[in-house]
Amino acid sequence: MQIDVILGLQWGDEGKGKIVDYLAEEYDIVARFQGGPNAGHTLKFDGNKYILHTVPSGIFRPRQINLIGNGVVLDPVVFRRELKNLEKSGVQFLDRLLVSRKAHLILPTHRWLDAASEAHKGKSKIGSTLKGIGPTYMDKTGRNGLRVGDVELAGFRQQYEALKQKHLELLKIYPEVPFDLETEEEIWFASIETLRQLRFVDSEYYIHEALAAGKRILAEGAQGAMLDIDFGTYPFVTSSNTITAGVCTGLGVAPQRIGRVIGITKAYCTRVGSGPFPTEQDNDAGNHLRVEGQEFGSTTGRPRRCGWIDLPQLRYTIQLTGTTELCITKIDVLNSFENLAAATHYRYDGLESTALPYDLCQIPVEAVYKNYEGWESSLDSAKEYADLPAQAKVFLEDLEKQLGVPVRMISTGPEREKLIVR
Ligand code: GDP
Ligand code: IMO
Ligand code: MG
Repeated sequence: MQIDVILGLQWGDEGKGKIVDYLAEEYDIVARFQGGPNAGHTLKFDGNKYILHTVPSGIFRPRQINLIGNGVVLDPVVFRRELKNLEKSGVQFLDRLLVSRKAHLILPTHRWLDAASEAHKGKSKIGSTLKGIGPTYMDKTGRNGLRVGDVELAGFRQQYEALKQKHLELLKIYPEVPFDLETEEEIWFASIETLRQLRFVDSEYYIHEALAAGKRILAEGAQGAMLDIDFGTYPFVTSSNTITAGVCTGLGVAPQRIGRVIGITKAYCTRVGSGPFPTEQDNDAGNHLRVEGQEFGSTTGRPRRCGWIDLPQLRYTIQLTGTTELCITKIDVLNSFENLAAATHYRYDGLESTALPYDLCQIPVEAVYKNYEGWESSLDSAKEYADLPAQAKVFLEDLEKQLGVPVRMISTGPEREKLIVR
């Protein structure tokens, strides 16, 4: 058996949660492989809305196992809150939610360091979600981290204290930011007790055995390929590999185990936080997209920056991720536009190019657009591809042609059932 992958091709918030929830029924296991509570994945069904940060988006399907892989960084406090919400919604999860022993823990002082580091950067701040992601991955690669499996070991408290002391030393180089460590620690240790109630697994063995037993596995990405630590708009990125390669390291599977790679893109583009965004529309069109698309962060509530879909950017991330099929979301957000645009290439250094320059942060890039006629109508009645207005089909088929990958799914609204599968 192979592992199928769903990941974002832009700067996050492409609608991964909705699509994972929709497709989960076809799988036995849904697994998160990277990121942490910086993610906010929204699901809407039966008139309810849920936002997941750590828990995989297959949790609302009653039969599926949901696994938090070793590549994830987990904040027990956020996690406990999510579990409480699931309980309130009547979701049974105790025997269906597994956590890798090798996933790293976010400590209160990681969040403190995140805030202090951002304060130190001032105007050039990353625009982090302040969930402690960067400092936790730094401790992982610096070989200082605390892992979920350590909770079961005798020296856990001492390990915690030693790491905390290091953080307190480190905090001295940063500007002071308010943080009530005593209170935060109390909540953290209480949350560790909740975490202990879950089943910890050696997820690399678990996945291996599941594949051998013919189980179908779906890997759920967080963030987007343009936020990848290696290939994104560095330094305005997150601290993990968000591309397909992250599935291998974040779950412990070999590359030849990867099957379908479903790349998700909005029919336009958004970004939250700082950093370059070549097709950003800091104008009426951008404001219109933000209002129609309700583009406010699921994790932080910040307004998202909005712009047109960027084809050179997407070709780049399709290449990096090995995307085999596309899912285009939020096409309904374009319903009231008379005209639409897609960037086909860039102008920089006096030349035209379809490649991203080495440093998108330093080189001013001008996006060159192709225009399309809008459809100016609702898509609510469109259940199949054939039902879509002619202008929408022209737009989608042109994207497909220019990107060289088939568009297999088109999302026409936030609700679970608003999806056209071709
Ligand atoms: P994720 O992080 O990739 O899971 O995406 P988010 O949940 O952060 O952001 C996507 C937002 O768009 C959520 O509010 C979804 O409910 C919503 N959404 C998803 N698909 C569609 C769609 O096709 N149309 C509209 N209008 N909203 C959508
Ligand atoms: P989902 O999974 C959108 C952005 C932050 C910031 C940068 C670094 O919901 O698509 P971090 O907290 O990781 O140190 O922040 O990355 N960012 C996201 N943007 N969607 C996300 O996740 C994001 N996770 C991080 O805004 O610019
Ligand atoms: Mg999100």
